[in-house]
Amino acid sequence: MTQRYRAAALGLAAAAVLTIAPVHAQNKVKVGFMLPYTGTYTALGNAIENGFKLYVQEQGGKLGGREVEYYKVDDESEPSKAVDNINKLIKRDNVDVVVGTVHSGVVMAMAKVAKDTNTLLVIPNAGARAVTGPMCAPNIFRASFSNWQPGYAMGKVAGEQGKKKVVTITWKYAAGDESVEGFKDGLKASGGDVVKELTLPFPNVEFQALLTEIAATKPDAVYAFFAGGGAVKFVKDYAAAGLSKTIPLYGPGFLTDGTLEAQGDSAQGLLTTLHYADGLPVAKDKTFRTAYQSAYKMAPDVYAVQGYDSAQLLAIGLNAVKGDVSKRNELVAAMEKAKIDSPRGTFTLSKSHEPVQDMYLRKVEGTQNKYVSVAVKNLADPSPGCKM
Ligand code: BEZ
Repeated sequence: MTQRYRAAALGLAAAAVLTIAPVHAQNKVKVGFMLPYTGTYTALGNAIENGFKLYVQEQGGKLGGREVEYYKVDDESEPSKAVDNINKLIKRDNVDVVVGTVHSGVVMAMAKVAKDTNTLLVIPNAGARAVTGPMCAPNIFRASFSNWQPGYAMGKVAGEQGKKKVVTITWKYAAGDESVEGFKDGLKASGGDVVKELTLPFPNVEFQALLTEIAATKPDAVYAFFAGGGAVKFVKDYAAAGLSKTIPLYGPGFLTDGTLEAQGDSAQGLLTTLHYADGLPVAKDKTFRTAYQSAYKMAPDVYAVQGYDSAQLLAIGLNAVKGDVSKRNELVAAMEKAKIDSPRGTFTLSKSHEPVQDMYLRKVEGTQNKYVSVAVKNLADPSPGCKM
């Protein structure tokens, strides 16, 4: 074979490889993060992004055999901007999947756009029940929780601890309302009741008047839904008002997750319930924590776990279609059957694409939400109304 002939043959072979590789496999898969990067939920958005990217890095930077390209929009936890913001990712950036968000009000607007445009949406936090209830759709998945789940578990535990008369306090929006609804259901089932429901607008942190009202009501306990910067302020103000000495404070784990360094002494001993805890007896959690600590020089929290699991869930879908997102039915079918090997413990999805998972009781010790016990095993949100 002459040198020229050999070179031509090699060229032909290379061209054949290029034509055989499907076009989608040569392009990057576009992931659009719509998360809060400013405001009271900033730390939550960052942890979700970190967790997601950690999983992708562990897969060699690829999902379904394709490299990943990221796009980002700061949703500011602002429902009125949600439609414009998600459209930036869908129409301007042409993403294959949207990953978002934290705030329940924002996610409801996102879900409507995702449904109307048939965009794949993976929710890494926001627990709005409507999204996996009446608004459910084949292209919408949640890798986190429903607002009802941790609330229900805490209500059950509070009732079992003999709390008969409880006051609730929360921001007035879907997450707070539904968290309180879950708490009430659990508390009533174990013999107690809510005697007063206090609220303030999101993301207001002027708690003084409401704390005075709590002191005057003298309940057996208080249940509070706050998260991020607002949770830090609430727990500190509760202790500073002297209430933690006389009226036990309970909450879904968001009250103390990712916040303990800032809350310091004011959070010590608090009991909360959540689908994650420090010191879980879960093998996957040990490797996850080591990898997260080494990548980001800090310990992970529940939001980081949810970001990691959002990537895992998406990877299961993309792997099933070898990265070909046009095979939507196969991709969705694989995600629906997913068994996620999560740091929180293995979980599956309900028919409405909602995690069915264990809820843990945790106790604050130092800067940890220490695992105490399983409060409710395999808890599914009973939320009715999903017709797919
Ligand atoms: C929500 O809006 O759904 C939410 C925000 C922060 C923590 C938990 C839930």
